[in-house]
Amino acid sequence: MCGIVAAVTQSNIINILIDSIKKLEYRGYDSSGLAVIDYNNNIIRIRCVGKVDELIKEVNKKKIFGSIGMAHTRWATHGRISKENTHPHISSNIIVVHNGIINNNAILRIFLQKQGYIFSSDTDTEVIAHLLHWEQKKKKDSLHTVIQKSIKQLHGNYSMVVIDKNNPSQLIAVRSGSPLVIGLGMEGNFVASDQIALLHITKRFIYLEEGDIAIIQKKEINIFNKKNFKIQRKITRSHVEYQSVKKGKYSHYMEKEIYEQPRSIKNTLKHYLQKNNTIYFPELKKNNIFYHAEHIQIVACGTSYNAAMVSRYWFEALANTPCDVEIASEFSSRKLAVKRKSFLITLSQSGETADTLSALRHSKKLGYLGNLTICNMEGSSLVKESDFCILTHAGIEIGVASTKSFTAQLTVLLMLVSKIANFKKNYLVSKNIIQVLNTLPDKIEEILKKNELIKTIANKLSNKKNILFLGRGEQYPIAIEGALKLKEISYIHAEAYPAGELKHGPLALIDKNMTVIIVAPNNALLEKIKNNIKEICSREGIIYVFSDQDFDYEENINIIKLPYIEELIAPICYIIPLQLLAYYIALSKGKDIDQPRHLAKSVTVE
Ligand code: G6P
Repeated sequence: MCGIVAAVTQSNIINILIDSIKKLEYRGYDSSGLAVIDYNNNIIRIRCVGKVDELIKEVNKKKIFGSIGMAHTRWATHGRISKENTHPHISSNIIVVHNGIINNNAILRIFLQKQGYIFSSDTDTEVIAHLLHWEQKKKKDSLHTVIQKSIKQLHGNYSMVVIDKNNPSQLIAVRSGSPLVIGLGMEGNFVASDQIALLHITKRFIYLEEGDIAIIQKKEINIFNKKNFKIQRKITRSHVEYQSVKKGKYSHYMEKEIYEQPRSIKNTLKHYLQKNNTIYFPELKKNNIFYHAEHIQIVACGTSYNAAMVSRYWFEALANTPCDVEIASEFSSRKLAVKRKSFLITLSQSGETADTLSALRHSKKLGYLGNLTICNMEGSSLVKESDFCILTHAGIEIGVASTKSFTAQLTVLLMLVSKIANFKKNYLVSKNIIQVLNTLPDKIEEILKKNELIKTIANKLSNKKNILFLGRGEQYPIAIEGALKLKEISYIHAEAYPAGELKHGPLALIDKNMTVIIVAPNNALLEKIKNNIKEICSREGIIYVFSDQDFDYEENINIIKLPYIEELIAPICYIIPLQLLAYYIALSKGKDIDQPRHLAKSVTVE
């Protein structure tokens, strides 16, 4: 959440700051700003409400030069969306950008006001700026010492970059709960909250660890760990291609990521499916403690939670392993009774979701057998802090509404189920899963060809105010994910129900104005779903059924006929048309698909 970029180089950094912060816009886009120290040692700050393009317009109007500076794109937490609340924040000679939340900011604000500081914003970031200034004024310590003293007083999760105008040769980066990466350049060095921001400049990165403070100069970087020991952190060469984070021929990242799914799934399978048709997870070698679990507890948020919900049906039905799934923020905020021999799995695209991270940390005090993260981002906090990790290899996902990560997560989860089935000597199930997974990329390719039909339906549905999604069994979480996609990007109110619950409430909503979307593949539950369809028809609801089956003709039923799909992979396939539907509805409504209002890709605050 929020994007940070900072640079100290030999030449003018304005274009670098602008280009890099634009690439972090998916982390928050309420407002953005930058500050540099110009060649006359003045602080020049520009801040704008709205997208980074507004900032670019303002910067282009002025001729600004400077070889040290920082930029920020904000997702508002403390203080409304306004220019005053936009970063960077300044206290005399101190400039700060920050990501995260300072929980005790109100107490600190009162203290600093008593010392005579006048606040111009409602943010917790301005509290940091004044606190640093106050500590520096008390005793003329180095900025490093001032930061060390000040962060002892800050409670919360954050990362920040600080520049002191009186020493404009260095920027100091602090990581405490939110990620920061240093990019090593030829002419200088850079900091960002995500490597994506810097891929056009460098491929060499240092990932800061929790509690690190880095003093970054043009030609030198010194890092101190939380015990204040000077340490060397590993330089990593990124394998992410800059081209892969471009939209290419697509209008939106979400569109690109939907159509990329046959390839991203192929890639996921390639990493774990061996030539001899066995699955190999390098971290979960034979007899790993994971296989001895009698219960699996999965925690996740958003789309990752929905993937976990699907897998619950698989773990229990195919691997005979009891499984519970919980929203991460709920998991860490209640008193839990941990089941016997339970193993914890966290599921996350970014590996930085604050609620999921805090659930993992919480779980470590509770006596689970161990923990595993299924994650898309190598080197992320969840990966670092978990006992074991399986990467989903979906490739970088930029659209705020998650698509290809979801199907890659399901692919990994189904492979995991196959491994457990094998461990429990249920060889047939294990083998069947592998066989069917091999057909998955082609099946998805086939489904994507339905795009023109789905576009037509999307045009018909774009003026709806409410849409109900129904599914049964493992298609119920698919209905939830379909509804989530739709509300995230089109702002149409969408709700999902298990079809069996219809008569316990939602049926009251059905009339000729209510659209109901139903996912109904051919499985043991089909007959029951057909009854639900009748119930809706009798009450004049308008129905769109996604199915590989035929249904009795009724005037208000629309069938979107999908190819035959094996039951085992049906949930992974049936989300595809729902993703397309949400995308095309939002497109026809002219919505900002990749950056829906109020949302952010990576939610690093609890
Ligand atoms: C945010 C994103 C969602 C995502 C959720 C969980 O809400 O907008 O797309 O599903 O976070 O993120 P994670 O990175 O943990 O999967």
